Formats: sequence, C-alpha cells, structure tokens
Amino acid sequence: MAKKPFTNRLNDLDPKTWLKFQKSWFVHNPPRRQPNVLRHPAKFPETLAQEFIEFFTKRGQMVLDPMAGTGSALVAALRAGRHSCGVELNPAYAEIARQVVEQEQASLGEAAQGLTARVIQGDAARFADYAGEYQLPPVDYVITSPPYWDMLRAYGAQTQKKRRQTQALDVFYSDDPADLGNIDDYDEFLHRLVKIYASLQTVLRPGAYLTIIVKNVKKGGKLYPLAWDLARQLGQVYQLKDERIWCQDDIRLAPYGLGSAWVSNTFHHYCLQFRKG
Ligand SMILES: C[S@@+](CC[C@H](N)C(=O)[O-])C[C@H]1O[C@@H](n2cnc3c(N)ncnc32)[C@H](O)[C@@H]1O
Repeated sequence: MAKKPFTNRLNDLDPKTWLKFQKSWFVHNPPRRQPNVLRHPAKFPETLAQEFIEFFTKRGQMVLDPMAGTGSALVAALRAGRHSCGVELNPAYAEIARQVVEQEQASLGEAAQGLTARVIQGDAARFADYAGEYQLPPVDYVITSPPYWDMLRAYGAQTQKKRRQTQALDVFYSDDPADLGNIDDYDEFLHRLVKIYASLQTVLRPGAYLTIIVKNVKKGGKLYPLAWDLARQLGQVYQLKDERIWCQDDIRLAPYGLGSAWVSNTFHHYCLQFRKG
C-alpha cells in the first residue's frame, strides 16, 4: 500500500525535523553577541528564536514579540522568511532593534525582499491599539521573554557586577514606570504581565501559539515560581501546551551555599507553550 503523504498544516518542516523539536528539553549555548546588542542586559539568541519560529509558523506568516528588546525575534523571523513586528518600551533598545533589522535585511538581500519587520516604540500594554494604528495583519505566532520581575535591580547578581564595570552596558532596562522590570511587588508584576499577554488575544489568529521564555526567580533567599505562576494564570486565558526546557551548559558554577545549604545554579529557562483555542 502506498505511504500516505505527509500533510503539514503548521510549518514547512519535514517529519524528522518536526519530531526532533518535540523533545521536551534542548541545550542551546548562545553564540557570542554582536557588539551593537551588547548594551541590552538580557536578550535571547536569534538562533534559538529561529528554531521556534520555523516550528510554529509557515513562510510568510506574521510573528510578534511584544517586548522586543534589541529585536532578536525580528532578526530570527527575517532569517526564517517570516514577517514580524516588535514592541519595545525603551527608545534606545527600539532604535538598536531598527538598526539590527536593517542590517539583517541588507545582508539577506533578495531573501528578505517583501518581508516586513516593524519596530514600534511603546508600551506593550497598548499593543491592541498599535495593531489598529499601524494596520497590522493578524498575528500567527508570538515569541517573547519578559523582564524576570525586578531581578536586574538585585545588586548582587553575578552578571550585573561584571556589566557595572563597563559603563556602556545597561544593568537594568529603564526607569520608566511602565517598564515591568521596575515593579517591586511580585503579585502586581505578575498581574500586569498576564494582562499584557492576555490582551494579545485580540490580534492573534485562532489556533496561534505563544512561546514565553521565562525563569523562576530567587530573591532574598526565597524562590518565586514566576514560570509556574505564569503557566497557571495565563493557562486560564490560553490553552497551556506544556514546556520545552532550554538548558545552558556553558556557564561557570558559583559556590552558592557551599557547605551549608542547597542553592541551585539555575542554568535553564522554561519555554512555555500556549495556544489560542
Ligand atoms: C527580557 S527583555 C527582552 C529581550 C528580547 N527578547 C531580545 O532578545 O532582545 C524584556 C524587555 O521588555 C522591555 N519592556 C519592559 N516593560 C515593557 C512594556 N511595558 N512594554 C514593552 N516593553 C517592555 C524591556 O525594556 C526589555 O527590553
């Protein structure tokens, strides 16, 4: 009997690549960052975002990052042949995002022709308004990562110490009150974050997926299960579709709690998958 042809309604991948992506964990060590995006304290790798975009969309579809930072998701979308849009609150990061997008378009040449990659400087809480204002088409996929609460303000954070020595590098995102990274009350932070993600429903195509890259955070010796809280609360708005765990194995271990208490060196992020029903 002839083998049934593989019909693929979600993406343009072959069955082998599709299956490989369905493993619930993966190791991805970010490549060295380009100097123009070093200023931003916490970006995700374009290479990682591209793999997700290629799984959750087809060529020519529309990708959104409502907290776009320096535009990694937009660059990844261009490389994958998808349209994209990013919102970023900090004007300096939005400008860097515009520059990296332009550079990427120039280096891709013909392959990027006809693809739009729009950077909007503004508050993600207003995305539904921007969609109307800029006449954006319905969104097929969201990939994004929020501020990890106000952790960048934690003075002792190891990475922060190194960045502080180099004045050109930011240690936190901004002083803007709309910046979610400036909210010190955990419940309020979570509430406003969930509200932003929930508001994207109005622009998302039915059946579209959202990937949120996030970590649980430790503050003052206490664990705040940000990833799990987000999964639970946002799971009441979208269908929660499990996670993929992004592991990094290129980070030096720090001797937290050595000889007295168990304190993990947390080298993984959750890539939470949601779907609009
Ligand atoms: C984890 S970073 C995102 C990095 C981005 N994925 C990248 O790879 O460059 C979170 C971003 O959210 C932005 N942000 C915080 N509050 C925001 C808001 N209300 N609206 C839009 N962006 C916001 C911060 O300025 C920061 O750039």
